[in-house]
Amino acid sequence: MASVAIVYYSAQGHTHQLAAAVAEGAREVPGTTVELVRVVGGDIVEGRWKNSTALAKLTAADAIVFGTPTYMGGYSAQMKAFIDAASEVWIQQGWKDKVAAGFTHSIGLSGDKLNTLTGLWVNAMQHSMVWVGPGLLVEGTAADQVNRIGSYSGVMAQTDWGQEGVNTGDRKSAVLLGRRVAEAAARWVKGK
Ligand SMILES: Cc1cc2nc3c(=O)[nH]c(=O)nc-3n(C[C@H](O)[C@H](O)[C@H](O)COP(=O)(O)O)c2cc1C
Repeated sequence: MASVAIVYYSAQGHTHQLAAAVAEGAREVPGTTVELVRVVGGDIVEGRWKNSTALAKLTAADAIVFGTPTYMGGYSAQMKAFIDAASEVWIQQGWKDKVAAGFTHSIGLSGDKLNTLTGLWVNAMQHSMVWVGPGLLVEGTAADQVNRIGSYSGVMAQTDWGQEGVNTGDRKSAVLLGRRVAEAAARWVKGK
């Protein structure tokens, strides 16, 4: 029995679709409870994100999955505002030993997404979390194939300019990431 929280920012909805897919995958593992926490611009005042209810939901979870669009080769400013605000948890090491994972979406096939995932990973390491990759081999490079971009540090997704729905392969990868995180969290909680 484990709880998985997914915290993400999305302006146009693609990262939101991926967050929903991660949630779907996590729910496939019996007994898993899932919380979706969306970072919104309205919670950022003078550059500082503030939402104690959202932060409490994350602190209550056994695993936290971080998701953000890639902006200028890194995570979005809104995600950064959230990450900086969560330093109040870091100082207490309140997320220590939680399972962590990440996903990102952008328009470019590369788009420098690895830098975004590296940023999410570094943040998780600062919190002394335990990073779990997707654990997915490349099925192929077609739009409907799993891990078509070949990312092992987190899920990378790409959607063309003007395309509303995320590609099937990226969606499947996100579902599988959610399942893997829920399974890892269940094992982790059981072993405590
Ligand atoms: C300020 C800004 C910077 C961006 N930088 C990149 C980038 O570096 N690489 C890339 O491939 N796409 C870039 N994009 C495209 C975004 O990644 C894309 O709009 C986003 O992933 C859509 O996700 P969403 O629908 O969840 O908001 C950028 C978009 C914006 C608005």
